[in-house]
Amino acid sequence: MAASGEPGRPWQEEEAAAVVVVGSCMTDLVSLTSRLPKTGETIHGHEFFIGFGGKGANQCVQAARLGAKAAIVCKVGNDSFGNDYIENLKQNHISTEFTYQTRDAATGTASIIVNNEGQNIIVIVAGANLLLNSEDLKKAASVISRAKVMICQLEISPAASLEALTMARRSGVKTLFNPAPAMADLDPQFYTLSSIFCCNESEVQTTHFGSPQSEGLHPCPQLSYMLVFIIVLPLQGAGDSFVGALAFYLAYYPNLSLEEMLKRSNFIAAVSVQATGTQSSYPYKKDLPLALF
Ligand SMILES: *[C@@H]1O[C@H](CO)[C@@H](O)[C@H](O)[C@H]1NC(C)=O
Ligand SMILES: *[C@@H]1O[C@H](CO)[C@@H](O)[C@H](O)[C@H]1NC(C)=O
Ligand SMILES: *[C@@H]1O[C@H](CO)[C@@H](O)[C@H](O)[C@H]1NC(C)=O
Repeated sequence: MAASGEPGRPWQEEEAAAVVVVGSCMTDLVSLTSRLPKTGETIHGHEFFIGFGGKGANQCVQAARLGAKAAIVCKVGNDSFGNDYIENLKQNHISTEFTYQTRDAATGTASIIVNNEGQNIIVIVAGANLLLNSEDLKKAASVISRAKVMICQLEISPAASLEALTMARRSGVKTLFNPAPAMADLDPQFYTLSSIFCCNESEVQTTHFGSPQSEGLHPCPQLSYMLVFIIVLPLQGAGDSFVGALAFYLAYYPNLSLEEMLKRSNFIAAVSVQATGTQSSYPYKKDLPLALF
């Protein structure tokens, strides 16, 4: 299968998407200030910007920029942030056929205040993301079942993620599950439904496998998953760049060894942390060494 998605060359939606994300979109509202405000205090910041975030969309954007035919199944509000988000997805040549808009909640937002030392306070209102439901997934069944790889995270309702993973596995689609943000009482079905369970250090500590007596990790032998440990600097969006890149390799270079896919994905995430912002830092295929493709 040839990867098309060079910037400026959209793929035709009649073709099956190779990478499908069932996940979140969040609008980041970022204020830069000299210090963090105290309770009840109003302070002046020196810069404000709006960014596109949400783990689902981030991972999808990275896969698309590497050339994957990608689609996202997600829900935003019927508001200006939602409209802008859909435009952003289109600009990244991601199919928005199953990007739903609802009147019942606002587009997910992350309000972020960052001081000069880089310390931050963040409030996430998941909003429309939590309304992605079973009916929405059923409408998207054909795009999920024809994919090579489906990615899920935990910024939509766990029930919706579980249903999407079940649908994918039933159709023989590889599932890449990123248990983020970490959840202590993760439903054990997430382990059996994941072809690859991909988490970072803090996420592994929060889930079952980080029990103090375990030396690192030893996945239960009766479960059919692989566990991938990622240790990246916790910089904005690097983990999502890694997961998106891994989905790209799983979909387009299935014959590479997992080790090689991890090396290449790690390289791409390392490139992303050298630029500013989240999605704005994700590299395109044209900016990367040919040896990665
Ligand atoms: C979104 O809002 C517009 C008007 O602002 C309306 O025409 C449209 O039907 C709404 N769509 C949904 C899905 O609610
Ligand atoms: C793991 O990822 C989460 C975001 O999902 C991040 O907040 C956290 O800092 C990361 N932890 C490490 C050790 O990289
Ligand atoms: C992967 O390997 C199989 C058998 O070794 C081969 O039939 C297939 O064409 C290869 N796929 C790709 C994408 O190279």
